[in-house]
Amino acid sequence: MNQIAITTHPNIALIKYWGKRNEQLFLPTKSSLSIGLDALSTKTTISLSSFGHDIITINGVPAEERHAQPVLDFLKFFRNNFAHGACPGWSLCVHTTNSFPTAAGLASSASGFAALALGLDKFFNLELSGQELSILARQGSGSACRSLFGGFVLWNRGQEIDGSDSFAAPLYPTQHWPTLRVIIVIVAQEAKKISSRIAMKNSIATSPIYNKWVQDSEQRLVLMCQAIEHKNFDLVGQLAEEDCLGMHATMHTSTPAVNFWSPVTHNIMQLVTILRTKHNIACYFTIDAGPNIKILCQEADVQKILLHINTTPGVECIVSGVAGAPKSESDELCGVARI
Ligand code: PMV
Repeated sequence: MNQIAITTHPNIALIKYWGKRNEQLFLPTKSSLSIGLDALSTKTTISLSSFGHDIITINGVPAEERHAQPVLDFLKFFRNNFAHGACPGWSLCVHTTNSFPTAAGLASSASGFAALALGLDKFFNLELSGQELSILARQGSGSACRSLFGGFVLWNRGQEIDGSDSFAAPLYPTQHWPTLRVIIVIVAQEAKKISSRIAMKNSIATSPIYNKWVQDSEQRLVLMCQAIEHKNFDLVGQLAEEDCLGMHATMHTSTPAVNFWSPVTHNIMQLVTILRTKHNIACYFTIDAGPNIKILCQEADVQKILLHINTTPGVECIVSGVAGAPKSESDELCGVARI
């Protein structure tokens, strides 16, 4: 095959992954649950490099060293563990384009490594199962193991020392909840100064409340699965907001303290609370490792919420539904089908 192109979606965790129990294998301290965002996408093309070394570009330009290095490490890992004997001495061109700001807390690493794992599988005709692909993608960026599937996706932490049971799988399909919406509020376009990888390590090592958050979050996950099953929107929103605030509290109480929020992040968080408590609009926020916010709501309330959010200067809103499975250039669904 000369070239393969894969399109994936970033995901937003309703119950977060924050911290590894094994750094080398990317094994999480707890399980997490996410939905893909269909309004945001990442397209990755893979072809053989004629330069004798791997070429990594992001959005049409050579990737900065800090973004290129994890991709190069991942390719090395793939060569050593998955591509036994395939094209000895090969090097690749990996071109990635995001339809949204890169490394700004919008999960570009999740969609990026999911696309890369799927692309490598197709490029080398490996026919890995959904489980194997998830384990592969996990070792590029933990949350990437969830972006291989559409709908509501659960990443089970697993128990095995070698990580063989730590992979994601779909819980409910995209169509389970067609009216669920996420308003992505972009308050800053620039890349974050500290990576989630470093920030989560810091939280585990120094936050006095980290273990409590993990325990509480595991309980929230059980309730979240039930709330999704019954499409209980308020419970989903409440649990997601609590889990996000708990995760950020572990960062705020770590040494050195890590704070991804900007003043505009605070304003939007407050606005969401006011809309819910004073205007009776069912909406809740969740935030990953960056200043940008995602507002969980239902289709019928989107316009009302946008009217209020759009009064905040300098913010851009993108309305998203729950994403389906990744696609390859030929538009075949990939990933989910092969679980
Ligand atoms: O996969 P990473 O290393 O980019 O970490 C992602 C962590 C959060 O986005 C903050 C939470 C999550 O579960 O996606």
